[in-house]
Amino acid sequence: MSTPILELSNLKKHFPVRDALGRKRGAVHAVDGVDLSIRAGEVLAVVGESGCGKSTLGRLMLGLIEPDAGEVRFRGEALGSLSARALRARRRDMQLIFQDPYASLDPRMTVEQAVAEPLILHRTVPRADIPTRVAGLLERVGLRPELAGRWPHEFSGGQRQRVAIARALASGPALVIGDEPVSALDVSVQAQVINLLQGLIRELGLTFVLISHDLAVVRHVADRVAVMYLGRIVEAGPAAEVFSNPRHPYTRALLAAVPGQGRPAAPLAGDMPSPIDPPPGCRFHTRCPHAVDRCRAETPLLPAALHAAACHLQDSLPPAIPPAEADPGGARLKRLQAFFNPDTQAARPHAAGASR
Ligand SMILES: Nc1ncnc2c1ncn2[C@@H]1O[C@H](COP(=O)(O)OP(=O)(O)OP(=O)(O)O)[C@@H](O)[C@H]1O
Ligand code: SF4
Ligand SMILES: [Mg+2]
Repeated sequence: MSTPILELSNLKKHFPVRDALGRKRGAVHAVDGVDLSIRAGEVLAVVGESGCGKSTLGRLMLGLIEPDAGEVRFRGEALGSLSARALRARRRDMQLIFQDPYASLDPRMTVEQAVAEPLILHRTVPRADIPTRVAGLLERVGLRPELAGRWPHEFSGGQRQRVAIARALASGPALVIGDEPVSALDVSVQAQVINLLQGLIRELGLTFVLISHDLAVVRHVADRVAVMYLGRIVEAGPAAEVFSNPRHPYTRALLAAVPGQGRPAAPLAGDMPSPIDPPPGCRFHTRCPHAVDRCRAETPLLPAALHAAACHLQDSLPPAIPPAEADPGGARLKRLQAFFNPDTQAARPHAAGASR
């Protein structure tokens, strides 16, 4: 079995909540016990409602913030054990694409400077070769190299996001996290940028974590899906499986809200409870139509399985109705199974072609 590129174990991040006098009055349980393994070359989507902890999880994955408990291992090495200098060096291999291409590019840097900065920082290429490298990167993200001398404000949102992608790729990362990389863009531009990302993922053998609340995008792109609710993963599995046979009532409710999924599931009742004081037992029990006493008292765990849900009643829930075109030919599912089955080498996605 291929080794995971990134492993998260019992990862927690709690942000202190203070009153007007600065006294600690509790904590936001933003990430609260996440175990996840990400295999080289896979596209893993992290989905869930606003505030469930997706961005915090993404920042923890890259070592941009320190966990309060648990561990992140990148290629077997615990990020927490690295010196600040060693961590900076690892950043070359791990990059983040932000949601807002307006905020993520420094308005005082030309496009060339923005894309060249990581090349200089990580000494990826000799200085004399930087202009050629920048031109190549711009071309690769669909921008004319002649635009290199322009300023970010001269570009549209989609073009800026292309620049941000070129900048993220400049250091030759193995792992890229896209935190809602297209959700700030016009719908017509979203598909173009998603197609660009998909091409790059395939061509460069990238491992990609797609943080998104847009299940249509996720369905189009992801090999595997992890569904988050109030700081925890409640379901994880091959995208085709999760979309065609969602096991957790929360996943079912999320999918029921997507136009065209056409699944008769109970809609989500009420808002997500506050992460400052999450409900005991199953965190979803306040909104779950199937909740029983056990759900209010006992926290369901996420079993270690290819497709797993953290729900006490998952085996007795009525079956989910699959949408018509779930996974034609089961191609995606086969690729994912190859990751988890040491005897099946044939269908391993992208990773073998990694070009660094
Ligand atoms: N630096 C911080 N200080 C205090 N609370 C924070 C901080 N960052 C995030 N939070 C809180 O942690 C919780 C999770 O936030 P996070 O941004 O990770 O959610 P998200 O799933 O990415 O949401 P969205 O879909 O809106 O981007 C939220 O309640 C948020 O307010
Ligand atoms: S454990 Fe209980 S409350 Fe939680 S999702 Fe399952 S049935 Fe619903
Ligand atoms: Mg976020």
